[in-house]
Amino acid sequence: MATHRGSILLVDDEEKILKALGRALREAGHEVVDTTSARQAQRLLGERTFDIFVVDNVMPELGGLDLIREYVASTPDGERPAILMMTAHATVESAIEAMKLGALDYLQKPFEIDELLVVVRRALDHQRMRTEYRYLLSERDEQFDHYGIIGRSRAMEEVIRRAELVAETKSTVLITGETGTGKELVARAIHDRSAQRDMPLIKVNCAAIPDTLLESELFGHVRGAFTGATSTKKGKFGLADGGSIFLDEIGTMNPTLQSKLLRVLQEREFEPLGSERSEKVDLRVIAATNRDLRQMVAEGKFQEDLFYRLNVIPIEIPPLRERREDIPALVDHFVQKHSQRIGRRIDRIDDGVLAGLQQYDWPGNVRELENTIERAVVLSAGPVISARAVSVLGAATPQATGLPSLKLRQNIEWVERETIRRALENSGGVKKDAAELMGISQRALSYYLAKYRID
Ligand SMILES: Nc1ncnc2c1ncn2[C@@H]1O[C@H](COP(=O)(O)OP(=O)(O)OP(=O)(O)O)[C@@H](O)[C@H]1O
Ligand SMILES: [Mg+2]
Repeated sequence: MATHRGSILLVDDEEKILKALGRALREAGHEVVDTTSARQAQRLLGERTFDIFVVDNVMPELGGLDLIREYVASTPDGERPAILMMTAHATVESAIEAMKLGALDYLQKPFEIDELLVVVRRALDHQRMRTEYRYLLSERDEQFDHYGIIGRSRAMEEVIRRAELVAETKSTVLITGETGTGKELVARAIHDRSAQRDMPLIKVNCAAIPDTLLESELFGHVRGAFTGATSTKKGKFGLADGGSIFLDEIGTMNPTLQSKLLRVLQEREFEPLGSERSEKVDLRVIAATNRDLRQMVAEGKFQEDLFYRLNVIPIEIPPLRERREDIPALVDHFVQKHSQRIGRRIDRIDDGVLAGLQQYDWPGNVRELENTIERAVVLSAGPVISARAVSVLGAATPQATGLPSLKLRQNIEWVERETIRRALENSGGVKKDAAELMGISQRALSYYLAKYRID
């Protein structure tokens, strides 16, 4: 059957046997390369791939077992053919040794040709299953990790889908979302997937640069353009030419600069400060903001024309609390990332803790989650992240929501009641878990429940 066809490297120092076996295997539809030299076989294995490697045990130059041992040591499992050893009765032990090293099977000499064909066919099936399995694994990993963007919620699927689509174009992209939702991560993913990925992605944080400097930062200046401009300097738009420019926190840009930016977007050219000559640029603009630009337009704080120029392809990343199903995968990812980074073995996170993390509202979104996990990994004593490592760290503790009064006792009672309420909420009403989240005994919890008449 055609589906059983595979490529085979056959090595036996006895010419007659080699020819007979080779002929039978070819007749069965396989592609066979044969050699009487173990050294030659070694070279061939280094030069090309085979599905199956059939090797005799006793050979003058180099024994089959040693050949296998050397080969296995130098080639990763996933890149090796299935190995079959032929051996005489007296040396069956070395065949078993070979199997311990990773050989799939052995044939005891003398054997019938049919027996060889069956074993080879089985080895091919085995090899194909392994290949398919590895493919499925890699595909799963890829699905799980789209350019480092973790998240299989419908909302994130849509974000990833749009990012992929827009990467192929040069359209302007506007990424919106609360702080820490991954706007910069998505901007980088778009650039890295684009035809311009070998060109630079230049980032400008519009909020971090004082208004007076931002213009020269963006467009550059010539010598003498202003006091202190002792040399000519290229701006970020010039530097990003041919690539992408990432304008972060675009909502903070002042009206004058908004107008200048609008012109660049419309005409694809700009003048460096103090220069008479305009420069042409060919680049993609990716802008991001955590503000509601539409609202700002309505309030007259953001130019309407500019908004429409930027909002060609909008990508909105929802806050983490609106896609809680992403939390377990993110937690896994960050546990792995940070335990690897600091070289500590963390196997998993306590189920109750995970439930708590999934219920928390994460005002700082993925960034806050990552920080929480990083600290938990650092502070964890054992291989399991426990409630204690996380609860001291913010996730399960109340936010500074403002105290009800200035009366100390009243405030303390309020904090106690609020803590219990949240812990119960986070543990789905299971008292044992709530007590653990709070770091107190179940008896102590019963006392508080009675004190505050909570049931
Ligand atoms: N879906 C995600 N998968 C993996 N990591 C993520 C994801 N979303 C965010 N992160 C990580 O969280 C952190 C914050 O993300 P990023 O800086 O992109 O957020 P942002 O939206 O730009 O925030 P800000 O508005 O505060 O600038 C980064 O370390 C980023 O790698
Ligand atoms: Mg950012």
